[in-house]
Amino acid sequence: MKNEEILKKLRDAGGYVSGQELCEQYGVSRTAVWKAVRQLERDGYVIEAQNNKGYRLVEKDDADVFTRVEIESWLDTAWLGKTLVFHRETGSTNLDAKELAESGQPDGVVVVADMQTAGRGRRGRGWVSPAGRDIYMTLMLRPQCRPEKASVLTLVMALSVLEAVQEVTAKPCGIKWPNDIVVNNKKVCGILTEMSAELDGIHYVVIGAGINVNQEQMAPEIQDKATSLYIEGGERIKRARLTARVLHYFEENYAVFEKNWDFAGLVDKYNSFLVNRGREVRVLDPQGAYDGIARGINEQGELIVVRSSDGQTQLVYAGEVSVRGMYGYV
Ligand code: BTN
Repeated sequence: MKNEEILKKLRDAGGYVSGQELCEQYGVSRTAVWKAVRQLERDGYVIEAQNNKGYRLVEKDDADVFTRVEIESWLDTAWLGKTLVFHRETGSTNLDAKELAESGQPDGVVVVADMQTAGRGRRGRGWVSPAGRDIYMTLMLRPQCRPEKASVLTLVMALSVLEAVQEVTAKPCGIKWPNDIVVNNKKVCGILTEMSAELDGIHYVVIGAGINVNQEQMAPEIQDKATSLYIEGGERIKRARLTARVLHYFEENYAVFEKNWDFAGLVDKYNSFLVNRGREVRVLDPQGAYDGIARGINEQGELIVVRSSDGQTQLVYAGEVSVRGMYGYV
């Protein structure tokens, strides 16, 4: 019997569960059940115990217990995150996931941290990763496809984070191409995907997401373009639940991607959330920046942009260029 199983059982029951039922379900003694309950209490849970009724989990709406056990108690995936490594503090979950991949861990390992001391962002930037507020998570996958097919995995992750955030917060959110999640036109999540591959095969892909969850205030230098779910919604979010829901949606979306190793089955859903769609954008192409109107993405994940100067359709590949809104971040 694992503590997360007891936790899940108490949560799903919503009321009292007798000690006898727990003993029978997990084939353990009453003392073992009592010890597990004590451990959960030490982790910060409030569990009421009554002689003739058993145990009841008292859920506080604003409690944010962020541990492996709590995440696993929300998890309903078939294969993703079945091995879940949780760090109170680490350098970078992407680096941790790479190390696990190099050491031969199987597909679907997930690393989550409460704090990172060397969080990594795109284009060689850092990712500020303080303790106690945000989610830093990385998925390690070994897709059996050609390396060039794997670039859309970052879009699969963006879609999955978006769906999870929408479910948990009931807040409308969108995607700024290729993979920033935005709420009220400000970024709440960034994704960094890294791959180890040879010409004809992938060793592994790590997909890391940093989600701004319960931060009460953003640093002044990023306030105009970044925000948190708490700032936008005014409610504290259970990070463990949100983490588990990201994994749930990723598994669902990955199953669609895996059919033909492409984005065809997901492109319409992605485009329906794309905030750049129909908007003026500036494409920061190393060959020369140009302006145009973004029309959505195609099945390869490229942004379709109609160039303003000559009406030509350009396909913009995320690895090469970035896109800025003409009037602000989006
Ligand atoms: C971006 O620059 O927008 C991407 C940021 C990605 C940050 C996440 S946090 C979890 C994972 N570990 C890292 O070091 N980076 C990614």
